[in-house]
Amino acid sequence: MLADNVTDCHVLVVGSGGAGCRAAVEASKYGDVILLSRSVTGKGGCTTMAEGGYNAVLNPKDSCSSHFEDTIRGGAYLNDRELVKILVEEAPERFADLMNWGAVFDLSCDCDGFEGTHPAQRHFGGQKFNRTCYSGDRTGHEIMATLMEKVRGGDIRVIQEVTVIDLLTETLSGGEVRVCGAVGLDRDGNMTVFRCDAVVLATGGTGQIYDVCTNCATGNGQGYAIGYRAGAELIDMEMVQFHPTGAVYPYDARGRLITEAVRGEGGYLKNSRGERFMAKYDPERMELSTRDVVARSIATEIMEGRGTDKGGVYLDVTHLGADVIEERLPMMLAQFLNFGVDIRKEPMEVAPTAHHMMGGLRITPECKTTIKGLFACGEVTGGIHGANRLGGNSLADTQVFGKRAGEFAGKSVMHRALMNTPEIVGQLAAEELRFNKFLNGHDSVAEIKERLRKTMWENVGIFRTREELETALAEIEELSEMSPKADSPAVLAECCVLEDMLTVAALVVRGALLREESRGAHVRKDIVQDWTPETSPYGHTYQSIYREGIERIGAENEDGGDLQ
Ligand code: FUM
Repeated sequence: MLADNVTDCHVLVVGSGGAGCRAAVEASKYGDVILLSRSVTGKGGCTTMAEGGYNAVLNPKDSCSSHFEDTIRGGAYLNDRELVKILVEEAPERFADLMNWGAVFDLSCDCDGFEGTHPAQRHFGGQKFNRTCYSGDRTGHEIMATLMEKVRGGDIRVIQEVTVIDLLTETLSGGEVRVCGAVGLDRDGNMTVFRCDAVVLATGGTGQIYDVCTNCATGNGQGYAIGYRAGAELIDMEMVQFHPTGAVYPYDARGRLITEAVRGEGGYLKNSRGERFMAKYDPERMELSTRDVVARSIATEIMEGRGTDKGGVYLDVTHLGADVIEERLPMMLAQFLNFGVDIRKEPMEVAPTAHHMMGGLRITPECKTTIKGLFACGEVTGGIHGANRLGGNSLADTQVFGKRAGEFAGKSVMHRALMNTPEIVGQLAAEELRFNKFLNGHDSVAEIKERLRKTMWENVGIFRTREELETALAEIEELSEMSPKADSPAVLAECCVLEDMLTVAALVVRGALLREESRGAHVRKDIVQDWTPETSPYGHTYQSIYREGIERIGAENEDGGDLQ
């Protein structure tokens, strides 16, 4: 039977981006760890693609309360304050870990507040202090290179090119359900069963459910769907961040990240009339307003006919001088030279692109999800960033909560489930049925995916209405009824991922319908509201297979905060 092929470990970490690698490093202090990745370990996740920086309070003139306040205001007051407090207080220690492990960040020796040489920090949107540490415009790459050295040098079993398609659960004697393993498919379509004492989901976000996104190919939201099917609770799934500046052309590069660092270094946004239009939308913060505001402003300029012929707006750094561009934005320079544009002499063209999920698995400060044995960290979790994430808080999040997830999963009691119980055998048999369904399917995976991305982009974007959301939901339901075909076992994983994408898209749309207000990244054009985010009667939206609906928790905005 399928369960013959069982691999055991204490902690199974699913996903090998910044959060997963950090979790694996920490968990390996407590027992044997397997680090699983869908693609090539350390190369495939979105952390590698993160460009601009890592937020940490390092300057004696800066403070954690200021970072806290910026994060909560930026998140439109929807953030889980306990998690934000942890984020801002522990980000500097986790940054120090990276430095101690050999990460090379840019340094400076002339910043007010510091003595001597110190990490350079640039300005990112929505922050009152320059607290974004960086390594040129390849910060994520530097962090991943450092973490991979730690992973390789540690006692961690790395298994790559395995797609986890489901978690295994067992019902304990008191009736509680516990995650006790996972089911994976290798690249030839062979099923592998992992048995463990704890699973850490670090599978990243879901930008790939949109036609235009910054995400890597594996950013299709599997962790949300897998957790949901196992019974874990998800919050605020409607909160999708559109990064203001993605590439507009060439066609194959549409949506590719043009880092916020371009604006952090002083870049101007201009419309086709040459106007710095942010003066109209946020005269104080201009290009360094929060991402939700900048993305909406760009979208408005384009929709009202002040965009470029190619459907974007201009992002101009020519006034900064070639030296600054070459030193601080080398990847941007090289990327645009490849597109045939010399950004030292001419502006880039940019438009919003799906970038980051603020919603996700609900976690405690110990990174426990609502289901026993299942931990989560990084973008797959919800609550930290509220309704809109600040640029630079994501890399910090991966390290702070990656470490915590690894530590608390590592401390889980050793408890190996029996694999021959009717419950587990039933779950494995259900997977076999799923495979047979795909092998006998008749619809093109590529076509279903394309229709899904199109409807999400057209109907569940920056501006939303009930009518559009219902159109998207109807399309997702129709697509979910189709029968994706696996021509060979090697395509089985792709079919499973597609099912997960449809599940996640439905969760996003249902959350967007539930939230009858505009807040942060979620704008309902059809709702007239007489409250501000600060006084909103809405709290989180919750979705799980056991519990549906929105909780109106006004107190969300009142407890634990010390905003001035
Ligand atoms: O624009 C950027 O470099 C992205 C950073 C982030 O999402 O934190």
